[in-house]
Amino acid sequence: MASHLATRTYLVGERITVADVSALSALFRAQQVSEFAAEKAESAVKRWFFTCASVSAIAPLFKVTPPPAPRTSALGIVEKWDRSRVRIKELLNLQESAIGTRVTVKGWIRTMRSQEKGALLFVELNDGSTVKSLQVIVTVATAKGAAELEGCGGVGASISVSGIIVASPAMGQLIEMQGDDVVVLGPVYGGDNGTIGAKNYPMAKKQHGLEFLREKAHLRPRSKMFSSAMRLRHAMAFATHEFFNKKGFVYVHTPLITGADCEGAGEMFTVTTMLPDDGDLKAIPLDKKGKIDYTKDFFGRKCAMTVSGQLNVETHACALSDVYTFGPTFRAENSHTSRHLAEFWMIEPEICFAELADDMALAEDYVRYCTAYALKHCSDDLHYFEHEYPLGEKGLRARLQNVVDNDFARITYTEAVALLQQQIADKKVQFERYPNWGDDLGSEHERYITERIYQKPTIVINYPKGIKAFYMKLNDDNETVAAMDILVPKIGELIGGSQREDRLEVLEKRSRESGVNPEDIWWYADLRRYGTVPHAGFGLGFERLVMFVTGLENIRDVIPFPRTPGHAEF
Ligand code: 4AD
Ligand code: MG
Repeated sequence: MASHLATRTYLVGERITVADVSALSALFRAQQVSEFAAEKAESAVKRWFFTCASVSAIAPLFKVTPPPAPRTSALGIVEKWDRSRVRIKELLNLQESAIGTRVTVKGWIRTMRSQEKGALLFVELNDGSTVKSLQVIVTVATAKGAAELEGCGGVGASISVSGIIVASPAMGQLIEMQGDDVVVLGPVYGGDNGTIGAKNYPMAKKQHGLEFLREKAHLRPRSKMFSSAMRLRHAMAFATHEFFNKKGFVYVHTPLITGADCEGAGEMFTVTTMLPDDGDLKAIPLDKKGKIDYTKDFFGRKCAMTVSGQLNVETHACALSDVYTFGPTFRAENSHTSRHLAEFWMIEPEICFAELADDMALAEDYVRYCTAYALKHCSDDLHYFEHEYPLGEKGLRARLQNVVDNDFARITYTEAVALLQQQIADKKVQFERYPNWGDDLGSEHERYITERIYQKPTIVINYPKGIKAFYMKLNDDNETVAAMDILVPKIGELIGGSQREDRLEVLEKRSRESGVNPEDIWWYADLRRYGTVPHAGFGLGFERLVMFVTGLENIRDVIPFPRTPGHAEF
């Protein structure tokens, strides 16, 4: 009766007929052998094909390269940039569901060997998206570009390769690629006299020593160890911004050039334009006393690279409430340890209407967040460090899980010193330096507390005022300040922070005592003059965090270009 109301026209994919299926079959074959997938294919036909082929009743028959994802961003912007390739990480993550699809990957050759008397080439290809590589098998007789591939110099060469993903018979990988179309983008000119060849390519060998890699800082991102470290470094930076952003903190960019020595340690790199290129000392302006006249310098005063963004970021905290900096800092300390750099990155949150206890709670949450983030999002790289990297830390992930699952230990400085002294008296330990009350804890003491006594991150609070910076809040005992250091196993000090002195008179007295002229930091003191509030903050050494989550033992191996005494060659 109502047949005149029935639908007579259908949208593509709404109904599938035998004719549709036969057309699909023909096109599916074409798609597998690539003509159809090529750019020149009619886009309307392509759209029709992908729409029909994804109808659930028949989709399993036509496993196809997924149509390009809609290129509209979360904010509704139609995006222009589209990768002309699939990232190897995403491809491997598809596991068996990628089988039968045709894809293009691009990257650098990690290994290449020929088999079956040269009939097949086995290439391990890596594009840096993951520590894992894609195995690509190329049949020399039939694949396009196979001859160039054979002559590309092998390890380190860059190639683009297209082919079909198939199940892999090899152990440890679910899928591999039958590459049928190879383009060599950049051969390796590592032969004698700059000819193509592997001989002089520094990264050709599989496992290099750490020192060797540091000397090849421009190529070490191609090593598994370093690329994994860099992906973890990125993840920790991202986790940092995510953590603070979620809590409503404002990211403030504090200056790198400053006149203020925040830590008062006199370890600053001077910034000047007064040193003449020709080295003629007579060109340097002098004052009446014969000293360098910095009023004639670029900034009209003596300036240096910052050792901390804290003093500047406090100005923004005292208006925006909760803020943080994340930037490079510079210290001209002549330390040759595995935990010190002359240029390192620091995260410095600053919270208002907050005291030391709030500061500790925030720091603990932040470190645990980053640790949990690494465990959740960086499992391939953590697995590599734990099980494949010969110098990696066994039990790495258990250690990290322990950090996530347990509260940090807490102890006062005074208790810590007494405890160390007791351990010495009980002959449980010997230190190079005896821990006297009033002295700074040495790295040996710090590590003993966190590694041996508590076996987990430990917060030490209330240090003697004499060993801490002028801006820390003086406690009621007049002897200690509301400072906190967070010590972690393997590294020692990861975080240094404090409640800030918010009383003007006390701040001025303490700065004078510490050799800082209050007039030089008049603007910092102003924050106490105009609407002072209790506030607190801390600084986390970013490279030490990356060491902490990777288990790597030398800080030079977690930063792209380490700057240490005598080293700035790249
Ligand atoms: O303890 P520090 O010196 O504290 C400050 O700079 C404060 N202004 C922070 C604040 O309260 N906003 O340094 C903080 C952290 C240390 O705990 C350590 O992790 C790292 O910075 N750090 C270094 N990392 C690498 N190389 C060095 N030379 C470092 N010096 C400090
Ligand atoms: Mg410190």
